[in-house]
Amino acid sequence: MDAFTPKREDRFTFGLWTVGWEARDPFGDASRPPLDPVESVHKLAELGAYGVTFHDDDLLAVEPDRERAVENFKKALADTGLKVPMATTNLFTHPVFKDGGFTSNDRDVRRYAIRKVIRNVDLAAELGATTYVCWGGREGAESDAAKDVKAALSRYKEALDILGAYVVEKGYDIRFAIEPKPNEPRGDILLPTIGHALAFINELEYADRVGLNPEVGHEQMAGLNFVHGIAQALWHKKLFHIDLNGQHGPKYDQDLIFGHGDVKSAFFLVDLLENGGYDGPRHFDYKPLRTEDPNDVWVSAAANMRTYLILKEKSKAFRADPEVQEALAASRVGELAEPTLAAGETVADLIAEDFDLGEAAARGFHFSRLNQLAIEHLLGVRG
Ligand code: GCO
Ligand code: MN
Ligand code: MN
Repeated sequence: MDAFTPKREDRFTFGLWTVGWEARDPFGDASRPPLDPVESVHKLAELGAYGVTFHDDDLLAVEPDRERAVENFKKALADTGLKVPMATTNLFTHPVFKDGGFTSNDRDVRRYAIRKVIRNVDLAAELGATTYVCWGGREGAESDAAKDVKAALSRYKEALDILGAYVVEKGYDIRFAIEPKPNEPRGDILLPTIGHALAFINELEYADRVGLNPEVGHEQMAGLNFVHGIAQALWHKKLFHIDLNGQHGPKYDQDLIFGHGDVKSAFFLVDLLENGGYDGPRHFDYKPLRTEDPNDVWVSAAANMRTYLILKEKSKAFRADPEVQEALAASRVGELAEPTLAAGETVADLIAEDFDLGEAAARGFHFSRLNQLAIEHLLGVRG
């Protein structure tokens, strides 16, 4: 027990599919045996997690009878007090989804996909989940000739409109969260980034009920700044949920432990989540390395939470450091929050203003010093 030991109130959650990943990859077989969701729930509770999340199919890992599997899962939740804040649907493993779920060219498949989601939305509501994630990993194409993207977006919208109407009709307290990803498993996935998904949400019938579940690695696979993406999602009030993990730049989806990729970005992300108005669970969507044995899995799960708490502490120390406060002021970071026109000022006032172009151009912003202070806090030589 130390300052970085997770507690329930830290609201850390894990997908059953994360610790339960058997580590099958495109080149190799499973390197770990299937894990009983009941064991995952107990182990995660012991480690200090707040909750678990699941795909419909995750519950069937060791018990093929759905009813019995759900019963076992419910009992484990009751025994441990773990919550289920989010659930989702597997619309990617079964070969029937090879061309997608909501946007398969095959209409029968599209209809089956919506039914599959609805069945698990009912269970999600019963378990008290308030967020339902839609990750459209198979919604995409390898050939631009093979997919009418405009029609696909219409079908994507249709599916979300149907689901929105369904939860409203049922009176469920559930909101949907779209999870963008640029590629993998499809060559190109629809709604590839936070920005694409935000624009798409505006076109939906139940736009108020649909937001985002961005994942660290997915934006970084596209070479984008995840912290900026999250800030924009917050600005639009669309950060419904988040998938925390690690990634080393644009390559295959690594799903590393949180902070084990771009650690500087992870530091600024925690700083933003802790100070930027996000109050949802801190959800980890990582994969224990294929090299790890069943015991290492729990070491890796704990590492996610510990890293988050260490970065939270570092962010606090960074903000409290008088030299950082002085550097922030010198860089005029706070000045950006001031409206560009003062109250009561007119555009005419703005046009008439005298401005010393040379003087303004000569002013430095001193960002290097500020950034170095962040690095020094992160490296543990200050605070
Ligand atoms: C990925 C995705 C998935 C989804 C999950 C929810 O790593 O490509 O993050 O893990 O989040 O399947 O549907
Ligand atoms: Mn991922
Ligand atoms: Mn994810």
